[in-house]
Amino acid sequence: MATTKSEKDYSIYFQPPSLTDAKKRGKEDIQVHYDFGIPEELQELGKDKLYLIQTYGCQMNEHDTETIKGLLEQMGYRATEDRHAADIILLNTCAVRENAEDKVFGELGHLSHLKREKPSLILGVCGCMSQEESVVNRILKKHPFVDLIFGTHNIHRLPFLVKEAMFSKEMVIEVWSKEGDIIENLPKKREGIKAWVNIMYGCDKFCTYCIVPYTRGKERSRRPEDVIAEVRELARQGFKEIMLLGQNVNAYGKDFEDIEYRFGDLMDDIRKIDIPRVRFTTSHPRDFDDHLIEVLAKKGNLMEHIHLPVQSGSNEILKRMSRKYTREHYLELVRKIKAAMPDVVLTTDIIVGFPGETEEQFEETISLVKEVGYDFAFTFIYSPREGTPAADMEDSVPQEVKSARLKRLNDALNVYMKQSNERLKGQTLEVLVEGESKNNANVLAARSRTNKLVHFEGPKELIGQFVKVYITDTPTFYIKGDWVQEAVAN
Ligand code: 5AD
Ligand code: SF4
Repeated sequence: MATTKSEKDYSIYFQPPSLTDAKKRGKEDIQVHYDFGIPEELQELGKDKLYLIQTYGCQMNEHDTETIKGLLEQMGYRATEDRHAADIILLNTCAVRENAEDKVFGELGHLSHLKREKPSLILGVCGCMSQEESVVNRILKKHPFVDLIFGTHNIHRLPFLVKEAMFSKEMVIEVWSKEGDIIENLPKKREGIKAWVNIMYGCDKFCTYCIVPYTRGKERSRRPEDVIAEVRELARQGFKEIMLLGQNVNAYGKDFEDIEYRFGDLMDDIRKIDIPRVRFTTSHPRDFDDHLIEVLAKKGNLMEHIHLPVQSGSNEILKRMSRKYTREHYLELVRKIKAAMPDVVLTTDIIVGFPGETEEQFEETISLVKEVGYDFAFTFIYSPREGTPAADMEDSVPQEVKSARLKRLNDALNVYMKQSNERLKGQTLEVLVEGESKNNANVLAARSRTNKLVHFEGPKELIGQFVKVYITDTPTFYIKGDWVQEAVAN
């Protein structure tokens, strides 16, 4: 890779990313490492120093931030919210759409002033953006004050990299493009009543619009015994809800060579653990099998909410997205899920304005939305990602048309969201109280089993508990109710 600092002598920590390498999927075995530890001399490095991490993007990234916090705290660092007081600031970035990247570059502009005021500040960039060659080149060129760039496969190396950044005059860059390993026993700083648990890393699907298979590497599943031990420990610590995480949880276990054990088996085992609520994200319709539906239908601590990204309702677009299912296959899956769980809530992700999407093809997405009746959807305008196949596809759809389609789609979705919320009026729901509502401290915010946001008035002591709420009103983005003062089993 050509860099503007080529005349300088980079250390062994100058390991830039390569999207070409990231694309390769080797046959090498997945190594699981159980011997992680931070050498003693690095455990004092952050003594009396403060850290601040800004996180962008998905829950996988949020959870990585918990690991980064865990590592920094084992190095003696403590958290701060005040960027002027921080000795190290890390941006844990998202590469999935261009606007996420723009935010980070904007933020780097602001942080350059801080760095000038306080040269000892260590400024780092990590997460999905750091896996992209073009991003690393741009930082080298336009933001040379950045001290440290490390990739999604290099998180466990953080203590060494921070030390290097402290003592090196050069930008420390360590981004492995290919990684087949799983590092167990990394420290994690978890807070509150809900905990994220990784069940797998990476993605092998290579949808043509998506950068994630390049930034997160190949699919690799954690061993079931490690996942189960972690969930048991979280239950023991009193967590009320866990969210199992993977880029495509339905591919869990496909990479095991010694055992036949898939996501349905894992859910069936976790179902027996004494943790009140279990959720998972995100699913891929192609790998969603009948056994999993059967297990989810047993309910108990498995919540009746499935996030099932569809992306488009048009077979032609699905084909060009390389989603590997058809509209008919998706609708059949929805039918099977609803038959097994009549009260299931389905949510989804949809992209509008994929290169060359015609009006008819967009209409097919609207008709699919109507047919399924989603309770919620994350909707996006297609954003070209350098290095992905769709970025090279011809695109004649004007931006205004794409924006108008997004609005029409959201209007259609809102009708169903409102209808499904209205059906809850007069029902009593069991909710987990998560905290105060963002806008009104007298109101508590809770979640139903189907992940609906429920607002009601009640004492703060209810936070962290399961209570019953009688639903009285259903504005679009949340539902309102009255606390029913009777005991709940959990
Ligand atoms: N442009 C727009 N949306 C995208 N997503 C992924 N890649 C892109 C892209 N290039 C959306 C998909 C995915 C969600 C996490 O982000 O809908 O499910
Ligand atoms: Fe962003 Fe996707 Fe990476 Fe998550 S996996 S951080 S959403 S690019």
